[in-house]
Amino acid sequence: MLKEIMEQPDAVRRTLEGRLKDSGISFDNLNLDTKMLKNLSRIQIVACGSAYHAGMVGKYVLEETLRIPVDVDIASEFRYRNPVVNQNTLTIVISQSGETADTLAAALQAKKQGSYVLAIVNVVASSIAKMADGVIYTYAGPEIAVATTKGYSTQIVQLYLLALLIAEKLETLSHERISEAIESLKLLPEAIESALKEAENIKKLASVTNSDNSVFFIGRNIDYAVALEGSLKLKEISYIHSEAYPAGELKHGTIALIEEGTAVFALCACERLNEKMLSNIKEVSARGARVIACLSDQSSSIKKEVQAVIKIPKTDPLFTASTEVIPFQLFAYYTALSKGCDIDKPRNLAKSVTVE
Ligand code: BG6
Repeated sequence: MLKEIMEQPDAVRRTLEGRLKDSGISFDNLNLDTKMLKNLSRIQIVACGSAYHAGMVGKYVLEETLRIPVDVDIASEFRYRNPVVNQNTLTIVISQSGETADTLAAALQAKKQGSYVLAIVNVVASSIAKMADGVIYTYAGPEIAVATTKGYSTQIVQLYLLALLIAEKLETLSHERISEAIESLKLLPEAIESALKEAENIKKLASVTNSDNSVFFIGRNIDYAVALEGSLKLKEISYIHSEAYPAGELKHGTIALIEEGTAVFALCACERLNEKMLSNIKEVSARGARVIACLSDQSSSIKKEVQAVIKIPKTDPLFTASTEVIPFQLFAYYTALSKGCDIDKPRNLAKSVTVE
């Protein structure tokens, strides 16, 4: 798993390769018909596990750039809720293995109901890749550890590229904004490398958290989507209970669980919401929480309200998930390592669940 965490800058370079042209975004043999896109009433994302969390990042990025409603569903829920999907729905299915049974079944159902099914997968010629109307491969290389890292990181980059491609076709972003975003994407591998340099700080943090029986991750907007993935990583490999919560929602019940010493990660890469995050941090601190903030803005007044800070590099506001997820992959890894867990093959888990 550590090898795959460290491979992410190169995996992101590979997933970007050949898709960032001077003329804009291009995917080989993906023909998204502009007329179909112009008639879209909504976009439906369907996936499981970390791929679902990648879809949550995609929701914020696609809605921000396309101004089209985006729904994200867990595949096992989508397929049994009689979903309203038709020819005016673009269904994006995300799967590292391309073999997850619930995701495959959901994709087949969406296709049967007339929706264009676009697959974002890592394994070439996998079942989901073969049934989809369009396929975007992530080229992350083989991913062996059960808990995905580079698979997730390359999925969210493909969602960024897809958002910019459709924004070009629908003219929902200016050429200047698209060019600016493309320049930021070119710098993403280096930004991830810089985030990986915090590993020693994260290792120290993990040593003081490995005895906790519950850890909270709170955030807003894309930070909440990353909080979901950070929480799952910790649960999957260290077996410590954890919960990700929208920071603004904590006060409506779950804050009852915060007590003296409870570890709370406050994800604050979405800088325009940091004032709101500051009040959420004060809420949990007042109840005794030990707050660790993940910050891209090192001048933020949040620094003096928390016990520890994880620094991440600034990136385009659309792409913060790519740098912010890194410390939480490392945190889960070092916590599990200090507990002597089997990190690559965690108990009860499979790399791909090909049964219901
Ligand atoms: C789980 C894996 O079994 O399935 C997760 O342990 C993964 O890492 C999830 O995110 C979905 O798998 P896939 O292959 O469809 O992305």
